[in-house]
Amino acid sequence: MSTLHEKGIAVAERVERRWAAAAVLIVVFLAGMAAFAGVHQATMPQAAVEIVDPTALHLEGEFTEANLGSAVEADGSVTVRAIGQQYSFSPPCLVVPAETPITFRATSADVVHGFLVQGTNINTMLVPGYVSVQKATFGVPGDHIMPCQEFCSVGHEGMWGKVKVMDKQQFLSEMADRKRISCVL
Ligand code: CUA
Repeated sequence: MSTLHEKGIAVAERVERRWAAAAVLIVVFLAGMAAFAGVHQATMPQAAVEIVDPTALHLEGEFTEANLGSAVEADGSVTVRAIGQQYSFSPPCLVVPAETPITFRATSADVVHGFLVQGTNINTMLVPGYVSVQKATFGVPGDHIMPCQEFCSVGHEGMWGKVKVMDKQQFLSEMADRKRISCVL
């Protein structure tokens, strides 16, 4: 009788140890994922907070008028800087090359706006005082609409931008020709 009972206890303990080990592995896996996302700045919102003075965007720093739009970096990637304000984006059309790592850096000059590029997983908020950073690579040339997707008052419905993805070689030669390019070529 007692041996049967002890056998039952031994089975229960073994099963419970296995489940406990499985639970620990799940926790370790989730903590690892969180750490990986943090290190690669892939968390939403991002762990690395960058602040900027929304009242002085036009006066100093990286969001002055001359710095907006696309810039080719030393490593060949492209950084795009933009501002959302009631009720437009500056610049209204972002031109980027295909098959190139793109970093969008954007912020708001007034209230909270949305930054969404149709057909991609780029979807973030532009919050005054903070820089929103989104990374993407576009496969093929084409146009993507970029609607503001956060209600920002009466003109919200009319706040649209566009992302124009160009052939990489064409983009680079256009960039060499002039300092900045727009959708009106
Ligand atoms: Cu800006 Cu809605």
